[in-house]
Amino acid sequence: MIAASSPPYKLPHDFLWGFATASFQIEGSTQADGRGKSIWDDFAKQPGKILDGRDGEVATDSYKLWKEDLDLLVSYGVKSYRFSIAWSRIIPLGGRNDPINEAGIQFYSNLIDALLERGIIPFVTLYHWDLPLTLYERYGGWLNKEIVQDYVRYTKVCFERFGDRVKYWLTMNEPWCISVLGHGRGVFAPGRSSDRTRSPEGDSSTEPWIAGHHVILSHAYAVKLYREEFQTRQGGQIGITLNGDWAIPYDDSPENIEAAQHALDVAIGWFADPIYLGYYPEYMKTMLGDRLPTFTSEELSVVKGSSDFYGMNTYTTNLCSECRRPHLMRGLSPYIADLGTQAQCAWLQDYPEGFRDLLNYLWKKYRKPIYVTENGFAVKDEDTKPLEEALADYDRDGGRVDIRAYFAWSLLDNFEWADGYVTRFGLTYVDYETQKRYPKDSAKFVCQWFKDHVEKEEEPD
Ligand code: NOJ
Repeated sequence: MIAASSPPYKLPHDFLWGFATASFQIEGSTQADGRGKSIWDDFAKQPGKILDGRDGEVATDSYKLWKEDLDLLVSYGVKSYRFSIAWSRIIPLGGRNDPINEAGIQFYSNLIDALLERGIIPFVTLYHWDLPLTLYERYGGWLNKEIVQDYVRYTKVCFERFGDRVKYWLTMNEPWCISVLGHGRGVFAPGRSSDRTRSPEGDSSTEPWIAGHHVILSHAYAVKLYREEFQTRQGGQIGITLNGDWAIPYDDSPENIEAAQHALDVAIGWFADPIYLGYYPEYMKTMLGDRLPTFTSEELSVVKGSSDFYGMNTYTTNLCSECRRPHLMRGLSPYIADLGTQAQCAWLQDYPEGFRDLLNYLWKKYRKPIYVTENGFAVKDEDTKPLEEALADYDRDGGRVDIRAYFAWSLLDNFEWADGYVTRFGLTYVDYETQKRYPKDSAKFVCQWFKDHVEKEEEPD
C-alpha cells in the first residue's frame, strides 16, 4: 500500500514499473513465420483510414529488432515490460479447431525467456485489437457469441505454452475502444459504423453494445479457465485493462455534475461494473433499454469477480456538459476544453490532478489493487520537430490507494492506429527511415524517478 504523494512515502520494492507496447503497433513482419492476417492489416490499407496513409507492415520492425528493444529496456533499468501477443501468430485462422502455429509460439517464447534472463518481468496482454481476420469474415468477430469459445481456446494455448513463465495476464486491452471505435464510430478496425461515408456496413445504435458484451463474456470465460486449470499450479494473476479518463463537470450545475458521472458510467462502468460488481450501470440500462444485451444468471456468476486487479489505462481528463453530448451515444463524447497542455491528438491534454482523482474514484468504487497499465502523452507537432527538440519533451511531465504498477505508454514511438506514425507516444524516439531508437528526456526522467522512489530490495544475508 502506498500513498500518492511525494516523500516520505516510497513505492514498495516489488512495485512493477516499465513500458508498454502492443504487437500490431511495433512488430511489422505481418507475413513472417506463418502469421495469419488480422483485421488491422486490411483496415490500415483502406484509403482514408490512416492519417498518413501508412500501415503496419513494418511499424518499428520489432519482430526483427526485438533484441535491440530488450537492450533498451535493460538500459532503462525497468522492472517489467508489458507487450501483447498477436492471436494470429499463435492460431493464424483464429478458431477453436484451427491449427496452432509453432513458429509464432516460438517467437513469444524466446521473448519471454530473454526478458526473464535479463531480470525483467513479462506482463502480457492477450488481446490488443489485432483480431484474426478470418474470425471477422466467418461470423463477424466480436459481434457474434461464437467468439467466446474461439478466444478461450486461444488463451488456453497461451496459458499452456507460456504460463510456466508469465505471471501477469491481461485478457483484453480497452474494450471501450474495441466496441465504440471499432463498431460504432468506425475509426478503428473492423471499421463498422452507421455513418455510410465511413463504412458500408454497421449499426452504431446496437453494435457497440453487442461487441462489448461479447468482449466481457470472452474475458470472463478465459479467466474461469485460467482459475480452474492453471492459476494454482502456475501461480499467476489475471485481469482486464480498461481505458477511462477522469471526468469533471463543466460547472457546478446539477445537469453537468450528472453528465460527468454519466460519462464515467459509460466509459468505465460499462465494463467495470459487471466485472467487479456484477451488473451493468443503471444509467446504461435506462439509456439503451433492450439495445443493451443481458447476461444469463450463469454467465453473470462467471463475469462477477472475474479480475484479480484493476488494470487502468488513462491519458487525460474530460470536461463534461449535458448539452454538448451527441444523442446517439450519450455520455460517450464528453467535451474537452482547456485543462492543460494540448497534445498532438485532439482528445488529449495533460491534467495530472485528474490522474489522482481517477485513482481515488476507482479504488473507492471497486476496491481492487490497481495496476496502471498505460499512461502517456503525445507532444504536439513532435513528428515535424528536429530530433534534438523532439528529445527535449518537457510537456510529458509529470489519500492512499493500493497501486502496484505503472507502465508508461510507450517504450517506442509506433503505429498509433488511425493516426499512423504522425502521433508519437514513445518515450523513445524512432527514426522510421533507419529504425534507430533514441531515448527522449522523458524516458530518462521516468526511469530516474522510479529509481529514486522505489524502495531497494533488501539483500539476503
Ligand atoms: C491506448 C491503447 O491501448 C494504445 O494502443 C494506444 O496507442 C494508446 N492508448 C495511445 O492512444
